[in-house]
Amino acid sequence: NNVIVLAGGLSHERDVSLRSGRRVAQALRETGHTVVEADINASLIDTIASLDEPVVFPVLHGGAGEDGALREVFDLLDIAYVGSTGSASRIAFDKAVMTPTVAAAGIATPQQSALPTDMFRELGAGNLVGALATKIGFPMMVKPARSGSALGSAKVDDASALPAAVVGAFSYGDVAIVAEFIEGTEVAVSVIDLGDGPVALPAVEIRPSSGVYDYTARYTAGATRFLAPAPMDADVAAACAQMALSAHRALGLRDLSRTDMIVRDGVPYFLEVNVAPGMTETSLLPLAIEASSARFADVCAALVGVARA
Ligand code: DAL
Ligand code: MG
Repeated sequence: NNVIVLAGGLSHERDVSLRSGRRVAQALRETGHTVVEADINASLIDTIASLDEPVVFPVLHGGAGEDGALREVFDLLDIAYVGSTGSASRIAFDKAVMTPTVAAAGIATPQQSALPTDMFRELGAGNLVGALATKIGFPMMVKPARSGSALGSAKVDDASALPAAVVGAFSYGDVAIVAEFIEGTEVAVSVIDLGDGPVALPAVEIRPSSGVYDYTARYTAGATRFLAPAPMDADVAAACAQMALSAHRALGLRDLSRTDMIVRDGVPYFLEVNVAPGMTETSLLPLAIEASSARFADVCAALVGVARA
């Protein structure tokens, strides 16, 4: 196969994507693949069409590469790629749609409200704060409905901080999510399906030195301690694995995903699922692969092997 590793894009996570893409491209070259590194641009489809048996490995975070738009083009044009379909990605990337979908499958999700900019304008900040304080309560998490890497996310401890946090989330898109804050241990479980059905990799526990797993804590070497496998009782680890598998299945995801959750008193609460998990040197899915005693390069190569149009 000729593999097109697609990275970059125009989202706020462009830089992260370029780092993820470099790592995946290097891994695939190590396993003997011919790799073309490409960004989203007007000649992309021509580049793909010019190759013999092309397979696209999308390593785009945020925006068109993760929200389904570009994958829908691949679906239409019968181009083989690694990962979830356009329609599944569209649902998974939008927390206003994704969270109720997984909740309907029986997954424990924090209480949340989706808040479009229009509603914010109509209600006014004062009414909004009152309504959300009653429905969600403090502290709460405010984040953009369609973004990643904790960009635009803030913990809000009291009413005075809520309007600014909502406006901050709106700078990444026109819908904000206001969710119950669950105090606990942050854990991520990656799921890989190499053709024999989805398998959960060991859970990774996240311990940011600053206490908050924000953009800096995610992408600065040494800023966060990762414990892989997470030190938890076997029954808790099984519940976390089950949650990640249930989310993967409920959303009809393909090949790979990563579910982020908070464990409180041994019970996992779902935060979100990622169809384009980070692949950087400090990202969780590569750590989980290594903790499972597989090699990152081999798993990337195997994912290319299961890619479909
Ligand atoms: N959105 C980033 C890349 C992640 O979830 O890993
Ligand atoms: Mg995410």
